[in-house]
Amino acid sequence: MKEKKLRSQGWFGRKGKDGFIYRAWMKNQGTPSHEFDGRPVIGICNTWSELTPCNGHFRELAESIKHGVYEAGGFPVEFPVMSLGETLIKPTAMLYRNLVSMDVEESIRANPIDGVVLMVGCDKTTPALVMGASSVNLPSIVISGGAMLTGRYKGKDIGTSDVWRFNDAVRSGSMSQEEFEMAEENMCRSSGHCAVMGTASTMAVMVEALGLSLPQNAAIPAADSRRKSLGHMTGIRAVEMVKEDLQISKVLTKEAFENAIVVNAAIGGSTNFVIHLMAIAGRMGIDLSMDDFDRLSRNVPLIANLQPSGKYFMEDLFYAGGLPAVMRELNQFLHNDALTVNGNVMGDNVKNWECYNRDVIATVEKPFNPLSGVAILKGNLCENGAVIKPSAASSHLMKHTGKAVVFEDIDDYKARIDDENLEVDENSVMVLKNVGPKGYPGMPEVGNMGLPKKLLAKGVTDMVRISDGRMSGTGFGTVVLHASPEAAMGGNFAVIQNGDLISLDVPNRTLTLQVSEEELTRRKAEWKSSVTFSSRGYVHLYQNHVEQADQGADLDFLKGGSGSEVTRDSH
Ligand code: FES
Repeated sequence: MKEKKLRSQGWFGRKGKDGFIYRAWMKNQGTPSHEFDGRPVIGICNTWSELTPCNGHFRELAESIKHGVYEAGGFPVEFPVMSLGETLIKPTAMLYRNLVSMDVEESIRANPIDGVVLMVGCDKTTPALVMGASSVNLPSIVISGGAMLTGRYKGKDIGTSDVWRFNDAVRSGSMSQEEFEMAEENMCRSSGHCAVMGTASTMAVMVEALGLSLPQNAAIPAADSRRKSLGHMTGIRAVEMVKEDLQISKVLTKEAFENAIVVNAAIGGSTNFVIHLMAIAGRMGIDLSMDDFDRLSRNVPLIANLQPSGKYFMEDLFYAGGLPAVMRELNQFLHNDALTVNGNVMGDNVKNWECYNRDVIATVEKPFNPLSGVAILKGNLCENGAVIKPSAASSHLMKHTGKAVVFEDIDDYKARIDDENLEVDENSVMVLKNVGPKGYPGMPEVGNMGLPKKLLAKGVTDMVRISDGRMSGTGFGTVVLHASPEAAMGGNFAVIQNGDLISLDVPNRTLTLQVSEEELTRRKAEWKSSVTFSSRGYVHLYQNHVEQADQGADLDFLKGGSGSEVTRDSH
């Protein structure tokens, strides 16, 4: 077979002035001449940043990847892209996911790169890098940074989901401020991302289930030396993928997306999974809809006993056999012939992994919860759909009708939630508007709004809550999210009023506003947007082009890809 000329040779293989410039300036880093001899150039796309603590160990991990690239005869070149730290970035990291994807796409295409390793960790870094790489379609392999070791507080395991519980406990008076601060000391005791099945872990699972990473990527802890070994092996494999011309489009097939949906259901993954997978599918031109999530998740039980739906942490998942042991158990639901980045099909990758702890990874026959994954709701309250995570919700609220208590935006919520005069009880349905993609803008994780203090004091722990925003993957409760179209678009969700009856019926997948069509039409005719549109900069671009949640909230002009070809030279 005739070997394909590598795209990096379009830079480094040149004679004359251009080749001189391309090589000579690289040599100022000490690179010897033979590195430019036509070996695969592997870009290592690094989201390291001290402002993204979950990815704070990535400089070290990148060195392991480089060792692997060199060992396989490649030439590693590490480059940074904008990093998104979930805890610090304002107003929300989701606002910048699409911006990072553009950074990644253009950085790969514009440079002499033949294949790319994507280093991902904190929530949005994963979809952003996969989206960007998908639009270029070079051989691409993902390595996640791994989760933190489990936190310990007063002899108990703790993780990110406990932050919400501790906060409620302080508000209800059952936890002191001193205890709250002590818990803070004990939460994050190693490098890595959130240790529960929050969005970062969900994304690490997603890339492994899609076949985009080597087996065991999802669960090896960040602090475990095997994470570095995985980096080394990922570097080796990146070089081989270039030699095999194994582009990302050969891995990201419809079957791969369907596998990821099944696995997400079985592990109780974050609701954010829906929005990110839809966005990646959009880049790959894969026909995926919200209905696919419901269709494929419906009969898949929850078999991973992980917080926030269950009890354990990512570290426990790894010791119990990791994701391959989970996927082996799901055999009957999966496309086992889907190709993965190591060149094997998924069925072969997982067939020899055993489960060592059935309390962490259950069987399909005896699951932890017959309810799993995400359910897609439809109805006149959310014409294009909404999302709920049944495994993290309260069973007594799965069918519920209550009177709406409406907050027009997040400031309205903050101002009134603890007002003694707020007319609310445990049967009310809390509605939060204008936290969607355009409205906020950026669709923040505020959908699991805290309950009113006076109800917490009465011992109420859950209520139906509905919004056009998102929820942290570490959050829980009977929380309906991603209502689409969002309030800023002026649909039925925008005109819900205090006292309207709302019916949630998860078994039948409906969300109904019990208001007549005539009345809704009248209200919509009178509706005026309260959203401020930015007049400059990235936020201006974002608000004018972001799509709705049911489409993945990507920018409309980023759908699909432009490939890896660069048609014009700079010199
Ligand atoms: Fe980074 Fe949770 S804050 S993964």
